[in-house]
Amino acid sequence: MTDTDVPGNYGPNGRILDGPGPRSIILDCDPGHDDAFAIMLARGSPGIDLRAITTVAGNQTLEKVTRNARAVATICGITGVPIAAGAAAPLVRPLRVAADIHGASGMDGPALPAPTVPLDPRHGVDVIVETVRSQPAGSITLVPTGPLTNIALAARLAPDIVGRVREVVLMGGGYGGGNVTAAAEFNILADPEAAHIVFGAAWPVTMVGLDVTHQALATPEIAARIADLGTAPAAFAVELLEFFGRMYSAAQGFAAPPVHDPCAVALVADPAVVALRPAHVEIERTGTHTTGMTVTDFIGRGGVALDHRVGVELNRDLFWDMMIAAIAAISEG
Ligand code: BDR
Ligand code: CA
Repeated sequence: MTDTDVPGNYGPNGRILDGPGPRSIILDCDPGHDDAFAIMLARGSPGIDLRAITTVAGNQTLEKVTRNARAVATICGITGVPIAAGAAAPLVRPLRVAADIHGASGMDGPALPAPTVPLDPRHGVDVIVETVRSQPAGSITLVPTGPLTNIALAARLAPDIVGRVREVVLMGGGYGGGNVTAAAEFNILADPEAAHIVFGAAWPVTMVGLDVTHQALATPEIAARIADLGTAPAAFAVELLEFFGRMYSAAQGFAAPPVHDPCAVALVADPAVVALRPAHVEIERTGTHTTGMTVTDFIGRGGVALDHRVGVELNRDLFWDMMIAAIAAISEG
């Protein structure tokens, strides 16, 4: 297949600027309750063609989040999608997990089945590189919903893929403050050096941060709509929300849990779901109180190029309609 086999308007490096959907994505995740919703949306949305799931240590150890990813795939009947384990630790810093939100397993709450879907024997970073190289330039979107370790390693290992990836649409960061510290969001704080590499590479980067994802609250009404679907994946989703809601209430005082990660998938499936603004984002790596902060400039002070896009508002109704339709569409394992 050649680069021009995919119809669409090609930009620099052969990137497709407005080709027809669905969008082909690699979901790089650390399940994680909200990562599980990202997997379900990626599988069930007509706007997404899920090419691979790669895992990264974050919410829990690599072993645990990889088992969780395979368990989600098993519950949701996801077959034929490579699932591969990536980096077991951040580039520089020690591993930091989020047991206060996701529990000891990384996905506490529902009983998880023994996975029946296989683990791809390749390293997750190799799966990212090989998948991008095997597809027409400009066709694969990377959707990281955990620390950016794998994505940074892929960019360093195979710089040619930076010019072949359509875009990176990540859940992480925020311009209005953090959730682990006053300044920093978990995914960026967990591996700020990796985030620095990813935001600094010459591929388009869109940040879907807490400013957007704190609008994606799974209220009791949303949980009831999911429960009404009456399927095993829906029951699993409701059990995830019950635990996630309790933890977010105890840890951060939320009335309903913010379901962060599928917001990035939803934006790829339908640009109408998240309003974006051009900006430039720098990653704080040496701050005394601000390490992991995504320092966001919407103005371009000192002539800095507004070379990133930053999510500012979620279309809540559209988001939840997409999410619930996707859960309804996935078959049971
Ligand atoms: C992010 O951190 C993780 O705990 C969630 O899965 C999400 O990706 C939110 O800060
Ligand atoms: Ca995550």
